[in-house]
Amino acid sequence: MTIDSFPTLQNDLILRAARGEAVERAPVWMMRQAGRYLPEYRAAREGYTFFETCRMPNLVSELTIQPVRRFEIDAAIVFSDILVVPIAMGMDVKMVAGTGPVLPDPIVSPADLSRLRSPDVDEELGYVFDAIRVTRNDLEGCVPLIGFSGAPWTLMAYMVEGGGSKSFSRARSWLHLEPRASRQLLDKLTDVVIEYLLRQIQAGAQMIQLFDSWAGLLGPDMFRRFELPQLRRIASALKAAHPEVPLTVFARGAHYALEDLVESDYDVISLDWTIDPAQARVRTQERITLQGNMDPAVLFATENVIRSEVRRMIEGFGVQQYIANLGHGMMPEHDPDRAAVFVEAVHSISSQLAESQVTTQI
Ligand code: CP3
Repeated sequence: MTIDSFPTLQNDLILRAARGEAVERAPVWMMRQAGRYLPEYRAAREGYTFFETCRMPNLVSELTIQPVRRFEIDAAIVFSDILVVPIAMGMDVKMVAGTGPVLPDPIVSPADLSRLRSPDVDEELGYVFDAIRVTRNDLEGCVPLIGFSGAPWTLMAYMVEGGGSKSFSRARSWLHLEPRASRQLLDKLTDVVIEYLLRQIQAGAQMIQLFDSWAGLLGPDMFRRFELPQLRRIASALKAAHPEVPLTVFARGAHYALEDLVESDYDVISLDWTIDPAQARVRTQERITLQGNMDPAVLFATENVIRSEVRRMIEGFGVQQYIANLGHGMMPEHDPDRAAVFVEAVHSISSQLAESQVTTQI
């Protein structure tokens, strides 16, 4: 099947916002919108482990589309995980209920790098590309499909730490103790991530997001030295091959990097809730689209609080060059009905604001 044979896209709002084109309201989706907070997700995944699920294209498609059926969101994100990349490089990764990811045999010394293979991505990650093709068809052009990868530092953090952690102190120490090996590892991960994302686009991903969930732990100097060059290399390589596909970077907690990230080939910067929307806009001017950034914890509050927080967020960012989202992912404890309130509030408040802006201009 070629890309051309996919159903025609009916809602390109998020793509237009990413490109900085005029929109009639803010597009909206939620990070981790497919997950355990949805009863239909829990039912569909029953009997399969997490990574088994990732290897079943029809089930991936079902899980990816579930939130699109339930909410009026403007994008789907392919169901998978950032840790499929370390698996493709030969590392063992287990998803342990209640704990999260565990890598029982982490990278400890520079010699361990020789254990990592440079994977043939078609062979090792072909199941992701198959899932993207199936999902793109099943979506019937309803909304664009987002592909994604973990960013090099965030992947390295798990590979060296051996699992999740609050501070990733082992991984951070490694950067200082073994700077050469760290750079080698980051370079290698960057090569794989580029190949992986290029193949996702070829398979049908219409937008790409890079998750650098632990970027904030680096601090400005280490971020600039170790991670920024990798993030820039990824964006340049993808843009050189597919200039039409919007690229988003989510460097969680890395406020200090905002200006540096504007000076790169990304189209969208995704922000967490610890930065003020209006300040982020002032610092980036009209040079880039911003995505985010409501605290997911707001979804535990009343409908009125959700609506007023959505209004504050959109007034801060403005309706143009903006994609509404949470500042991090949905949580298993969330109530899907509150997510629906969030989505509906973005629709109504951003349409109103867009209209009043047009009226003011006249
Ligand atoms: O809906 C979507 O957003 C697409 C799917 C998606 C998953 N993981 C599914 C998943 C995406 C985009 C990710 C990215 C991911 N995975 C990140 C970056 C985003 C972030 O949250 O910072 C990170 C750091 C991971 C690593 C990871 N995977 C962790 C820490 C966990 C455990 C957390 C938990 O909620 O248990 C996972 C597991 C995981 N990935 C789940 C899902 C739906 C939960 C597993 C389950 O259903 O049992």
